[in-house]
Amino acid sequence: MTPTLPAPPADPTTHAMLQITGLNVYYGESHILRDVDLTVPQGKMVCLIGRNGVGKTTLLKSVIGLLKPRSGRILFDQELITAKSPDQRARLGIGYVPQGREIIPRLTVKENLLLGLEARPQRARQQTIPPEIFQLFPVLETMLGRMGGDLSGGQQQQLAIARALMGNPRLLVLDEPTEGIQPSIILEIEAAVRRIIETTGISVLLVEQHLHFVRQADWYYAMQKGGIVASGPTDGLSQEVIQKFLAV
Ligand SMILES: Nc1ncnc2c1ncn2[C@@H]1O[C@H](COP(=O)(O)OP(=O)(O)OP(=O)(O)O)[C@@H](O)[C@H]1O
Ligand SMILES: [Mg+2]
Repeated sequence: MTPTLPAPPADPTTHAMLQITGLNVYYGESHILRDVDLTVPQGKMVCLIGRNGVGKTTLLKSVIGLLKPRSGRILFDQELITAKSPDQRARLGIGYVPQGREIIPRLTVKENLLLGLEARPQRARQQTIPPEIFQLFPVLETMLGRMGGDLSGGQQQQLAIARALMGNPRLLVLDEPTEGIQPSIILEIEAAVRRIIETTGISVLLVEQHLHFVRQADWYYAMQKGGIVASGPTDGLSQEVIQKFLAV
């Protein structure tokens, strides 16, 4: 029997944007995710924490459709998406910023951004970059003609988030956006994500180790060995709890 963990409080005016129940995912014969339940309420930021190798990226890849679960259900905006392809999920409104950013080094910043349009339905793909993107990340506007590979790590991360926003997502899935990035830029990225939530009402599922950023989220889930072992509001997260679940 697994104990029932608290889920984010149900708000009667909204609903769950993402609802995962009983998810089990394997790589070959190795059982990675174990009976994972996780909910992202509409318009909220939920953070998944846990040490290296516990299965955080595996969970995100299952959400966006790169990995097929052996059992369990994933509902996106009340629609069952467990059998849908990554493409279909992107078009439904799930945007993904992968761990390590995956910027195309030999394409310009502008070309990298326009790639994000692939996630939109065909008819909504005008080849322009909305001004809000540059309001969020002013540095990108000054670098449109530069090669993606020539940007700093922090700039590439901003580009990766901006590229995901080009698809007009309703759920933004971010995998360790501050990994390997200098502290001042971490705060910029954090502020941008907060602004995205405030101005667009988008929901966010974030994997993050950086305590200050974790605290920006409304709710956390802690993972150990592929299972969720704790959850709660992030303002109740003490340094000790963080210590227990995060890589030090
Ligand atoms: N392609 C793969 N094939 C087999 N095993 C894998 C594969 N990718 C990851 N794993 C294993 O699955 C487990 C979970 O990996 P995952 O990448 O989800 O962890 P993580 O929590 O994201 O770690 P990190 O904090 O280092 O990013 C690890 O034990 C890892 O070695
Ligand atoms: Mg990972």
